[in-house]
Amino acid sequence: MQALPSILLFAAICSVVCGIQHPDWHKVDISPDPEHIVKIGVALRQQNVDLLTETALSVSDPDSPSYGKYLSMDEITEIVSATPTTIKAVTNWLLDNKAISIDLVNNRDFIFAALPLSSLESMVNVKMHHFENIHDGRVITRSSQTYSIPSYLSEHIDLITGISSFPMESRRKSHKPSPPTHDSSSNAPSLISVLSRGGPNVAVKFTPICKNGQITKTTPPCSESPPTVSHTLISFTSASPAISEHFNYTEVPTCSNINNAIVCEITNLTVVYYHNYNVHVTQIYSDGSESETSSWKWPVVSTPPVVPQTISQMYRVPPNYVIENPKVTQAVVEFEQQYFSTSDLQLFFEEMGIPGANTPVTVIGPNNQTDAGGEANLDIQYIMAVAPGAPTTFWSIYANSSVEIDDILKWAVAMSNTTNPPLVNSISYGMSENNVDKYLGDGYLARSDIEFRKLAGRGITIIIADGDTGAGDLGALPMGNPTCTTLHPDWPSQSPWVTAIGTTYITPWAEPICYKSIDCDGLPLGEVSTSMDNGLFWTTGGGFSNTQSQPSYQSSFVSSYLSNPSLLPPSSVFNASGRGYPDAVAIGHNCMVCIEGEFIPVDGTSASAPIFAGIVSLLNDVRMKNGKGPLGFLNPLLYKIAQNTPQAFYDVTVGYNRCGAYDWIPTCCEFGYHAGVGWDAIGGLGTPNFEILAKEVLNY
Ligand SMILES: *[C@@H]1O[C@H](CO)[C@@H](O)[C@H](O)[C@H]1NC(C)=O
Ligand SMILES: *[C@@H]1O[C@H](CO)[C@@H](O)[C@H](O)[C@H]1NC(C)=O
Ligand SMILES: *[C@@H]1O[C@H](CO)[C@@H](O)[C@H](O)[C@H]1NC(C)=O
Ligand SMILES: *[C@@H]1O[C@H](CO)[C@@H](O)[C@H](O)[C@H]1NC(C)=O
Ligand SMILES: *[C@@H]1O[C@H](CO)[C@@H](O)[C@H](O)[C@H]1NC(C)=O
Ligand SMILES: *[C@@H]1O[C@H](CO)[C@@H](O)[C@H](O)[C@H]1NC(C)=O
Repeated sequence: MQALPSILLFAAICSVVCGIQHPDWHKVDISPDPEHIVKIGVALRQQNVDLLTETALSVSDPDSPSYGKYLSMDEITEIVSATPTTIKAVTNWLLDNKAISIDLVNNRDFIFAALPLSSLESMVNVKMHHFENIHDGRVITRSSQTYSIPSYLSEHIDLITGISSFPMESRRKSHKPSPPTHDSSSNAPSLISVLSRGGPNVAVKFTPICKNGQITKTTPPCSESPPTVSHTLISFTSASPAISEHFNYTEVPTCSNINNAIVCEITNLTVVYYHNYNVHVTQIYSDGSESETSSWKWPVVSTPPVVPQTISQMYRVPPNYVIENPKVTQAVVEFEQQYFSTSDLQLFFEEMGIPGANTPVTVIGPNNQTDAGGEANLDIQYIMAVAPGAPTTFWSIYANSSVEIDDILKWAVAMSNTTNPPLVNSISYGMSENNVDKYLGDGYLARSDIEFRKLAGRGITIIIADGDTGAGDLGALPMGNPTCTTLHPDWPSQSPWVTAIGTTYITPWAEPICYKSIDCDGLPLGEVSTSMDNGLFWTTGGGFSNTQSQPSYQSSFVSSYLSNPSLLPPSSVFNASGRGYPDAVAIGHNCMVCIEGEFIPVDGTSASAPIFAGIVSLLNDVRMKNGKGPLGFLNPLLYKIAQNTPQAFYDVTVGYNRCGAYDWIPTCCEFGYHAGVGWDAIGGLGTPNFEILAKEVLNY
């Protein structure tokens, strides 16, 4: 509580840390015009949230008599709408503060208002500033302070967005590498990355170290303190005891100056598909001497490129399945000015030989085709390739420089305000659970969760990528966390009201025994969770929420995982009573995406989410062909099918998500979650078997 000169008592809505400056947004010195119009969103206190929760669950629970009896927009309004008293109190407050527009949504639980900046500042007791995005120069108007509202309104308002909330970022936003640090007592090269993408070869990147142990600032490397680095010896040794394989390459590295650091690269080092290698790198100086050797801490594996047919084959979708029912709708949701290109989409369909190339795409929000991004192209190409023919919406939530907010809550509210929203929605955006309220405003996480329940009640499926930086959600604030004394669940994949999806890659080396004593080369293809400890250059998410408790639909699976301590981190670093995620996984490594006319291998839970979403659209098609409704909120059904018919999922039993990346540099927590038999907090229930699921979904 805080007293103000106007004698009104104000209730602080944000916690003390609310409004910490987002590291990607810098305050601009020029003060905003006091008459500048600012748009805010006011989340009104809803009624009957318990009834909403019960209803959302019963229409999604295959054992309930109301299974599939989804509610309309108006029926949701009847449950949750704010009271007339609340609406009146908030509206009057906004009008008293010179609001020029007040838009109450159809559910009567959210108000969007526009008002002069000076009125807003006095109304919620903050000072607003312009903030500029360090990547693209966009300017938004926000406050770095905690906002507060008159105490008489605290029973009417959950939170206000657009004041101290900063925009959501894509999972795949690239970060600049940090300058290398080096201990001059060694002249071993400083390894930056050793990885394989899209083919049977490995690329090695390193900062060269001179013979005297100093980092070089020149190219050719070490010309300032000769001898120069003339060659590099890269030594590959099988990481699997079952195979004895060892070979060397001696190559001339290609070196360049990137952000005042010399980075050398050697690409196209041919290796054998699916084999796990330990890699050692030694520099050879121009006087013929060798440096000390650096060993990459993780094994490295290469696997073939993935195209839509790979996915259909792995998940047993009949070839050339095309959806003809216009009601089987789906969408990809985008933030942060991620746009897709129709010409790339067209070329992707042609080159991949996928039917349904003329499927219409409905665009909601802006789509600047000349500024197409990797995330948006990936999402739309893969959801449409897996479910060709399904009418697809590209739903882009725009942050218009100074006036608009962009966030997942805003999307959810817009969905609820729509009579016939897309049935299946894939979202590859998110952040660390512990940072949500700190950066987006106190109450943001809880309110988003209620909005997800409203959509569940409507029969809408929400698929969320569960993050690319392991169980620690390692990474820069606010999307990730720089350290991991405890593990960090990811939001919104940790919500019990969404289907959280992690990532696998394809390999015949898919059983734990392969990493011990047998050569698995000849086995049928299987899948392994994407992780640095299993040969890839990034790690899929997974874990347990600290804010949402375990939903009953997953309790038998999660209890049995929790009863196996050898797969778990110590109980002090995670919350065993929380909602466990992911629910399922799908391929997400080496997916070939068409970007600016070229095919590029793309990785990420960002790929797995639209792929899984496409499978759900196919299942919706099967159901509708048989006179049944869409699947809606999937989880109760998914776990029930897994219980009764385990073959409906391919169980991923290899994986460990302790690692991640900080500033694009691989980093590991001490602990993570291991994959195992049955559900686990990295591979979920496994990957879908469409053939079996298509039969199972007709039983309910
Ligand atoms: C590869 O290089 C290492 C280090 O110089 C050497 O010990 C090893 O014998 C070489 N292996 C082959 C197969 O040439
Ligand atoms: C990569 O190496 C293979 C075999 O050594 C070679 O055939 C191919 O042309 C190389 N590709 C590039 C892009 O250098
Ligand atoms: C679309 O993107 C291009 C390339 O970034 C930019 O030059 C152009 O101004 C953008 N157009 C609009 C309408 O924002
Ligand atoms: C963006 O904001 C400006 C005012 O700052 C407005 O003139 C323009 O119409 C807005 N654009 C969109 C697409 O909303
Ligand atoms: C909600 O939908 C109505 C039409 O039913 C529209 O007029 C209004 O602008 C929408 N509000 C928001 C915030 O999308
Ligand atoms: C663990 O999760 C429960 C249920 O979500 C929550 O009430 C509790 O505060 C969490 N504990 C910690 C230490 O975060």
